[in-house]
Amino acid sequence: MNLKDQSFANMTYDYWTSALAPKVEGIKNLYNALQTHELDFLVVFSSVIGVFSNPGQANYAAANSFLDTFVKSIRRTGFPACVIDLAAVGGIGHISQDEIILKRCRQFGTGLLTERDVLQAVESAILEAGSASADEDYNMGRIIAGLEPFSQAIQTAFDSDRRFAALNQADSSLNDSHVAETDAINRWAATVDDNPDILLQQSAPDFLLKEIGRLIQTYSGEADTVDLEEAAGDMSVDSLMAIEIHSWLLKRFHVDVPSVTLAKAKNVRGLTAHVIKALRTKYKLEEPAQA
Ligand SMILES: NC(=O)c1ccc[n+]([C@@H]2O[C@H](COP(=O)([O-])OP(=O)(O)OC[C@H]3O[C@@H](n4cnc5c(N)ncnc54)[C@H](OP(=O)(O)O)[C@@H]3O)[C@@H](O)[C@H]2O)c1
Repeated sequence: MNLKDQSFANMTYDYWTSALAPKVEGIKNLYNALQTHELDFLVVFSSVIGVFSNPGQANYAAANSFLDTFVKSIRRTGFPACVIDLAAVGGIGHISQDEIILKRCRQFGTGLLTERDVLQAVESAILEAGSASADEDYNMGRIIAGLEPFSQAIQTAFDSDRRFAALNQADSSLNDSHVAETDAINRWAATVDDNPDILLQQSAPDFLLKEIGRLIQTYSGEADTVDLEEAAGDMSVDSLMAIEIHSWLLKRFHVDVPSVTLAKAKNVRGLTAHVIKALRTKYKLEEPAQA
């Protein structure tokens, strides 16, 4: 991944071409080299930045738009290709190593795709690749992965874009309390980003205990049977829930606590302690002295 971010007004020719070349020349070379091969499928990795752009990334957006359109054009010749426009991926790949981009994603209100999400998109892309035909609709052969669930701010930005009509509709079918909860968590994560010292206050474990308790309630199918104010901490956690919590933490807080560690926590109070510790480590905070 060759990012050369710069405002368009200040972008040098070198910045422009070095972000474009790997994708533009890369896909053309690959396609030419494959001409004499009978392929089952070709899956191409592109980015959602090519769909809706991002300040400072005109070059990267153009590179990815080129990939999307190139795949479209070769599909019309019957070539079995499919392109995946990925949102940011957590835990693996280039972005997972880049704190600045991760912070931007969080402020934008988007979660992070997990490795499993990416593999699912690849599986769908392999199936989709084989359906290439000359008279297909523009959006065939293209999978946009990771634009969920929208924060209010992003939803507003896409309200007038027909390509997101189905997504907007699906999102509005989420009940209001789910959206409010997601927003509350994103807001809290952004506040922690701005002022990590919040993690040293008692309000931090209190907030997380309730939110993790709410999640466990949902996963266990026991919504509303436990009073979260009273008993969230004592709710038990099994290994399957630990896997779900692992990917929730990755998406919402960009911290990678192994599910094996989370599973050892036994209950929500223990789980919260692991999460607080991981967040304090991430923000390089000293553990407060025990009273
Ligand atoms: N990671 C994400 O969150 C994310 C999000 C959206 C889209 N994507 C897309 O997914 C794809 C893979 O991303 P990634 O995060 O896995 O990237 P990555 O870790 O940077 O790996 C990219 C691969 O591309 C090769 N490469 C980099 N610059 C090159 C150049 N100038 N010429 C030829 N090869 C070059 C690297 O080769 P070497 O190993 O030899 O360096 C590496 O194998 C990219 O197309 C990216 O745009 C990723």
